[in-house]
Amino acid sequence: GACGSEKKEIPKQIYIGVACYDQRDTFLGELLENFKRECRTLEKRGYDISLTIMDAANSQRTQDDQVQEMIGNGCDILCVNLADRTDPSQIITAAQEHDIPIIFFNREPVEEDLMQWEKLYYVGCDAEQSGIMQGEIAAEYINSHSEVDKNKDGKIQYVLLEGEAGHQDAISRTEYSVKTLMKNDVILEKLSYQLADWNRGQAENRMNRLISQYGKEIELVMSNNDEMALGAVEAYRKAGYAREDWPVIFGIDGLEEALEAVKAGEMQGSILNDRVDQAKEMAKMAVELFEGEDFEQESLKEGRYYFSEYQKVDGSNIDEYLNAEETISHSGM
Ligand code: BGC
Ligand code: CA
Repeated sequence: GACGSEKKEIPKQIYIGVACYDQRDTFLGELLENFKRECRTLEKRGYDISLTIMDAANSQRTQDDQVQEMIGNGCDILCVNLADRTDPSQIITAAQEHDIPIIFFNREPVEEDLMQWEKLYYVGCDAEQSGIMQGEIAAEYINSHSEVDKNKDGKIQYVLLEGEAGHQDAISRTEYSVKTLMKNDVILEKLSYQLADWNRGQAENRMNRLISQYGKEIELVMSNNDEMALGAVEAYRKAGYAREDWPVIFGIDGLEEALEAVKAGEMQGSILNDRVDQAKEMAKMAVELFEGEDFEQESLKEGRYYFSEYQKVDGSNIDEYLNAEETISHSGM
């Protein structure tokens, strides 16, 4: 050009292929909405992003095929939310053959798999942290509200709603929330653990059964996520119990509806799973990988893992979080 600049203003085209385990999952749906929004902001920075999102409806076979299809269509970067987190081998092999980096997200492959090739990354959270935080806010509440122990036997009769068997978050949240409660001097009596697949309707069914079995004896419900906690809330609403007969209920994710339930006193707390921050990081990584930039590997754990920070939400800070979707990312880029 006349001024010596050879740069043309043609947007760089990036094709990002996203594979999801199940788009009906509420948390995941919100994460994807945020990711789409991040991709639109990249367009303002001169990239032309073409995004394909495919839903595996919970089948790893289906997802393997979908990834093949996106590779066949020439995608540059893959973002993969595994259906079966222990079985990424087909996807990794296919991506490696075509030299396409993969950003796994939300459903964490085992370390051995992630280390198979240098262009594999993970964006998510440190699952243990959410369990510890949930145990802490629950213990704090219980230790300062003697009425939680409705039958005054010095023990807290509790029910635990578990997400999916084998999911890193379900495993760690169950283990660490309970350990943390005990560590903080809460004496627990386990009534029942129920798997409800992260799902509100399933949790409501499970809780209905437990309510008919235990009546008002349930004093605490610990749930691996908010959707299931909201299922418990729904079960108590329909059972028509007076509020003083409800147990205290704790979730994880910080979904808007759960925050409203906390505000209304139907739930006592949640742990924010920062989908805004995760979406930002995924978009940022996608561009950096596309540009072939040397990664700021020091900022990633073991050069591969990005974990966003969980945040505690309870009665003490609920107003900061309620209706503040776009500001929830306190750890920004
Ligand atoms: C979320 C759950 C979600 C699951 C899906 C977890 O991190 O807390 O709400 O269902 O991811 O993989
Ligand atoms: Ca009790």
